Amino acid sequence: MNMLLVDSGEDDSWIEELTRCLPDFDVRKSVDDVDPGDVTHVAMWRLPAEQLAAMANLEAICTMGAGFDHLDLDALPEVPIVRLVDPAMANDIALYVLSWVIHFQRDFDRFLTNQTAATWRGDVAPVFVHDYTVGVFGAGAIGQVVLDTCAHHGFATLGWSRSKHDRPLDQFFTDCDIVVDLVPLSAATRGVIGAAELAALGDGVLINVSRGATVDTAALLDALDGRLRAAVLDVFDVEPLPADSPLWSHDKVTVTPHIAGRSDPVTAAPIIAASIAELRSGSLPAATILR
Ligand code: GLV
Repeated sequence: MNMLLVDSGEDDSWIEELTRCLPDFDVRKSVDDVDPGDVTHVAMWRLPAEQLAAMANLEAICTMGAGFDHLDLDALPEVPIVRLVDPAMANDIALYVLSWVIHFQRDFDRFLTNQTAATWRGDVAPVFVHDYTVGVFGAGAIGQVVLDTCAHHGFATLGWSRSKHDRPLDQFFTDCDIVVDLVPLSAATRGVIGAAELAALGDGVLINVSRGATVDTAALLDALDGRLRAAVLDVFDVEPLPADSPLWSHDKVTVTPHIAGRSDPVTAAPIIAASIAELRSGSLPAATILR
């Protein structure tokens, strides 16, 4: 029998959903209650390479998240690794972004400040959606959903990716009111949003839903002490964000605990099951990681 080992921790809903979607699999949740030689497939966030190496009959690994920058691909067994591409997660991220876009476009941050001084309207006059530009830096498949969601509500949108852009990067930052960082973390993108990009963003807003290390945190703090209007950060160099990080207490920063795009077992399990079916029929799913 095929055996799927699921790295789901205490969350039994992954086991329930995957068992439902893979009726001919023995679905297990702990490495401790399996013989490694019986495991044919793994669904995981991150399992130690040596644990995976002990699985002599392993046929494939499916990830339970979209990003895979935390995996040392060279150290993992030579089997296909398929990453999770779930439209529901893209929608989750798009709605997280949209809620913050509206927050700033409608000046809710400024009204909240005015309220502390019992100030009626004052100098605040929110712009209309067509005058508010949302840019996605790292506009791949998820970024496109974010752009489409914002455009659907009338916002002006701009996407920028290394392979597809219509203006230089600093011009892109200048032209946006909000930049949404969705660039995958790699050696080339570590600290890619630095002092120059933040200066170009001016009094705009940065939303980071990618990986903390794509932004130079020291440069971000400098920009926030200067013109930058705000930063909404869901991801950090170190997670959980250490209690002594200055980001916690900065009055222009909102911290959320890496929840912008969640993996939902209800929508993800059928996708993982479909990937496994495709692999077993002899083809490689489109989401297979190249290495
Ligand atoms: C979340 O950050 C993911 O990579 O799925």
